[in-house]
Amino acid sequence: MSNDAFESREIDATRPSAARMYHYYLTGEAIFDVDRVFGERIFQIAPNTGVTAHHNREFLQRATKFLVGQGIRQFLDIGSGLPTAGNTHEVATTLEPTTRVVYVDSDLEAVTRAHEMLAEQNAHDRVAIIEADLRKPDAILDHADTRRLLDFDAPIGLLIVSVWPFIPDAESPLELMGRLRDALPSGSYVVMSHVTLSEAAPEVIEQAVNFRELYQQTSDPVTMRDRDGFTAFFDGFELVEPGIVYAPDWRPEGPVDEQDPGRPCNFAAVGYKK
Ligand SMILES: C[S@@+](CC[C@H](N)C(=O)[O-])C[C@H]1O[C@@H](n2cnc3c(N)ncnc32)[C@H](O)[C@@H]1O
Repeated sequence: MSNDAFESREIDATRPSAARMYHYYLTGEAIFDVDRVFGERIFQIAPNTGVTAHHNREFLQRATKFLVGQGIRQFLDIGSGLPTAGNTHEVATTLEPTTRVVYVDSDLEAVTRAHEMLAEQNAHDRVAIIEADLRKPDAILDHADTRRLLDFDAPIGLLIVSVWPFIPDAESPLELMGRLRDALPSGSYVVMSHVTLSEAAPEVIEQAVNFRELYQQTSDPVTMRDRDGFTAFFDGFELVEPGIVYAPDWRPEGPVDEQDPGRPCNFAAVGYKK
């Protein structure tokens, strides 16, 4: 969709959303008052949340750089979130200016803000944001902007970073992943991360249980998955070294604090489609 065709609609200001809360953890900016109230409650019960969010975002950025280094020149970033510093297209085009990116999010604030950013950057000729749902992969794959910007005969970098937690098992996330995997040409990569409890310290697990309960009040309740549950999303892909690790441990660019209690709360990996 070009920016001209985008019509803003009313956003639910009474209930926090995953996109707005993640933005609050990363930037401290509350879009609505309810976001600040909710975010501060989360920080009280799970003080590592902000650090974990930053680890997650930095993993996305390192993986994007890695993919550009592997020759990827087109990205499909599903569940892209509200734009913040170092968005996928900014990281990728700094290295390779011709890179094309299609962002997808189901959150209206995320979509609206991304439209504003792309208009300001005059980037709509090589970057698009579409309002669509991961639970409807064909609507993403067949969208006019996806077809305009992505060539499905050349390798694609698919990013689904910290989004599967918002798709419960009842919605068959592995089948959704299979549909996306099958659409990718050989030579493509997938980048994913997933919040987890299974390997955290007991006190962190207790915090995270409360975190999950609080998220039931948002528009996006959270499902945690263990290592096997996360690994299953890579069916049909070869894992790139170092395989499935905690987000800060994926090809770090500096020292990793192994004592950081937020570290074991988020799995991350990159897969390659032969
Ligand atoms: C935790 S944020 C992650 C943002 C970004 N991928 C990152 O890792 O920095 C999760 C994002 O997924 C989006 N999301 C959740 N469920 C979705 C769905 N079913 N379809 C598309 N986007 C979804 C949320 O709106 C939010 O922007």
